[in-house]
Amino acid sequence: MSRSPLIARTVPSLRRATDNLRKRKATIALVPTMGALHDGHVSLVRLAKRRASRVVVSIFVNPTQFAPTEDFGAYPRTWKSDIAKLAAENVDIVWHPGVEAMYPQGFATRIVPEGPALAGLEDRFRPHFFGGVATVVGKLFTQCRPDFAIFGEKDFQQLRVVTQMARDLDLGVKVIGSRTVRERDGLAMSSRNVYLSAEERQTATVLYRAMKDSAGRIKAGEAIAPAMARGAETIKAAGFALDYFEVRHAETLAEVTSRKDGPLRILVAAKLGTTRLIDNIAV
Ligand code: PAJ
Repeated sequence: MSRSPLIARTVPSLRRATDNLRKRKATIALVPTMGALHDGHVSLVRLAKRRASRVVVSIFVNPTQFAPTEDFGAYPRTWKSDIAKLAAENVDIVWHPGVEAMYPQGFATRIVPEGPALAGLEDRFRPHFFGGVATVVGKLFTQCRPDFAIFGEKDFQQLRVVTQMARDLDLGVKVIGSRTVRERDGLAMSSRNVYLSAEERQTATVLYRAMKDSAGRIKAGEAIAPAMARGAETIKAAGFALDYFEVRHAETLAEVTSRKDGPLRILVAAKLGTTRLIDNIAV
């Protein structure tokens, strides 16, 4: 039996609902999202349910993490189907603030993350991005005051940034990473996959295959530089405009030169037509 979640649209109504839960000794897990929910998001909700007695999912397309040239206006919004999916998972509360509830007139404070936010990966191509993410996630944490917050490994650098922020600012939230959910052919699920044409959708699988191939070579003892160069070539040859294809330390995101510097993670970002895809895997 599924039941409709309570939908909160203002900070006071969210606070009332979460304070009530806390009074009843509930533990709360928060799953931050921008909506357009797919099975990847649902897997985060399921992990949240295993960790805490109550689950809050936020749906907020956060304008401050989009550059003016990016897809904020076009970002898919699928409210009805999102709520149906969350009801089917018995989510307790959906936190769905309007832009003016999140950033009221005169809003003038920002969180500026450093460390993993300056690793030279996403930040090199989307310099505004992690400031926007840290500010909104910091707000989501203080609005909901969850015990746990679940983030996908799909956005690996983002997971590192919010983990560091929660620690540095003593936010009292345990950040938990959840593994990437993929389509059968290996493409990581993403709300942005709907932008791909049928032909691009076929080509998109190259990213996962190239990462797997390079990871396999490194594990087999091939030097990092040639193993990674090969993957990068495969991606470009398939028609992508490649932003980065790099192997980094999985915890610090520092650059590495040898397998012994590990645990390692391969991270990729590339554009197919106008759609920018990111992905990563463990080596
Ligand atoms: P969004 O892209 O909606 O993603 C919400 C959460 O779902 C993130 O933690 C993301 O890593 C996770 N996710 C996305 N695709 C996934 C997949 N295929 N498998 C597993 N998890 C996946 O990331 C954001 O929103 C925003 O930046 C946000 C954190 C909500 C701040 O605005």
